Amino acid sequence: MNQIEFFSLPGGFPWAEQIHIYDTLPSTNDLLKTMAAEGAPHGTSVVARRQTAGRGRMGRSFYSPDRDGMYCSVLLRPNCPATAIMHLTCAVAVAICDAMEQTFSFRPGIKWTNDIVYQGRKLGGILTELTVDASGNVNSAIIGIGINCNQQLHDFPEDIRGFAGSVRSCTGRFVDIDTFTYQVLKSLYGLSADLLKKKDDIMQTYRRDCITLGKEISVIQGDTVFHAVATAIADDGGLTVTCENGDIKTVQSGEVSIRGMYGYLE
Ligand code: BTN
Repeated sequence: MNQIEFFSLPGGFPWAEQIHIYDTLPSTNDLLKTMAAEGAPHGTSVVARRQTAGRGRMGRSFYSPDRDGMYCSVLLRPNCPATAIMHLTCAVAVAICDAMEQTFSFRPGIKWTNDIVYQGRKLGGILTELTVDASGNVNSAIIGIGINCNQQLHDFPEDIRGFAGSVRSCTGRFVDIDTFTYQVLKSLYGLSADLLKKKDDIMQTYRRDCITLGKEISVIQGDTVFHAVATAIADDGGLTVTCENGDIKTVQSGEVSIRGMYGYLE
């Protein structure tokens, strides 16, 4: 794992000294987890040009080919109870949408909870991993972000080709990944300051950007699958749904498919 020279950052970025860039890593989240356990400070960030074992939610892998995507992880030490930052993944999704709007002049949508989508395709996602101490305080929050930038559709492996997309495949635009990475880190720096004090505003933006609301969905939780309509996002990021039998419930985790998207047809 050779650390490589950092791309030039505009002066004065508060986290500049804490950004570690590698050519190839198994997973930026995994390295940052080790650094966090060794005492790395708030704002420590790890960026890789390529990952050989990039991880997604639900134990999936995240396809991370060389220089085609943006792969980074940021360590936050929010110094608060875990219950105060249940909305963290939602807040990160909003911060990514902000960074993409600033960099590319289009704003993607968010498929609950953590998929960044545009034109019906998944451009990337977020993997948030928390460690909590005995009193329930967050010791570390590792935020991993992967965004497909320059792949063409035929570059994606067959199993994800039907629903994955990249900024380039959707817009024709070739992405300067260093510039985009900087924009994402800046956006996360802003988020780390606003996370607790602007929670209501953040969640309002999340609800506006969330494409799942109002849609017919299927919810997959382990071996259980049920159909429902997504009606609201709770303040902690949970998804409130009305089931086919009229029951209303709020789901906190699990996989949600939207009817007519990513191959969910009936
Ligand atoms: C998902 O879509 O399920 C989440 C994908 C998160 C991928 C990123 S890439 C950088 C960081 N390192 C990882 O191993 N995973 C995250």
